[in-house]
Amino acid sequence: MVSNNEELVIENLDKTYYLGERRINALERINLQVKTGEFINIIGPSGCGKSTLLRCIAGFEKPTNGRVKLRSNEIKGPGIDRMMVFQDFEQLFPWYTVLGNIVFALKVTKMIATAKERKEIAKHYLKMVGLAGFEDLYPHQLSGGMKQRVAIARALSVQPRILLMDEPFGSLDAMTRSTLQEELIRIWKETKVTIIFVTHNIEEAIILGDQIIVFEANPGRVKEVIKNTLSRPRSPEANDFSQIWERIHKLLGFKNRERVLEERNLIRLFQEERELSLLPHL
Ligand SMILES: Nc1ncnc2c1ncn2[C@@H]1O[C@H](COP(=O)(O)OP(=O)(O)OP(=O)(O)O)[C@@H](O)[C@H]1O
Ligand SMILES: [Mg+2]
Repeated sequence: MVSNNEELVIENLDKTYYLGERRINALERINLQVKTGEFINIIGPSGCGKSTLLRCIAGFEKPTNGRVKLRSNEIKGPGIDRMMVFQDFEQLFPWYTVLGNIVFALKVTKMIATAKERKEIAKHYLKMVGLAGFEDLYPHQLSGGMKQRVAIARALSVQPRILLMDEPFGSLDAMTRSTLQEELIRIWKETKVTIIFVTHNIEEAIILGDQIIVFEANPGRVKEVIKNTLSRPRSPEANDFSQIWERIHKLLGFKNRERVLEERNLIRLFQEERELSLLPHL
């Protein structure tokens, strides 16, 4: 029996690609449960199937085996109950203004009946992402961070049940990234949308996620599911934050942090010594 707050269930999902003779097990035996309103982070090495999983949830890809269920109904294709935000800054329509991009989404999804209503809704979501006053600009007049804000507003404007985010802040500088992380938390609380967010960044996963799903590659599998109950806002300086960081770092196959720092110091010492030994020759 499905409990009321079960939003998404992934059951025994496999996704296999064939490139000529070559078989790629992009995803193998994925089982996950996501509750309504949860913030889920997926982290793992390149090629472990993170984007493939989001595409299966979005309905852009069909699982080879198994299924994805949204509120008990098997997903058979794309739908406006699941909207995607990508890493690429060029995901907006360049021939539409900021406002036009959102109005267009509302029009094609037949969400809102009149042009006036569509404009009002678009303005509401632009305000939510901090872009009130930028409605008439074109995408080429925006910074990368602003483009991502528009993409988030556009996705939210059709009121999806699930927001799928594939490394949306991956190409931003550290400061913009940190600001957008904070704002995304605010927006998530305001809209109560369920978020599935892919990242390569351990700190980002811990700042954002209620659950952090750590993947491994070849085949793409769930290695561990970490419940993240740290109180918000989360500070990377906190002790319990560092403990989760170490755990994920290790799961991803890295050496422990002390070892990395030790090695960094050794390299620095070696470089300094070399520079010193070069001095007499200068
Ligand atoms: N359409 C496709 N045809 C063939 N192979 C594919 C296809 N899409 C993905 N793959 C393969 O499936 C595996 C998983 O790819 P995917 O893009 O899901 O990884 P990822 O975890 O998102 O990687 P990254 O972190 O680099 O974005 C890779 O080996 C990739 O080459
Ligand atoms: Mg990817």
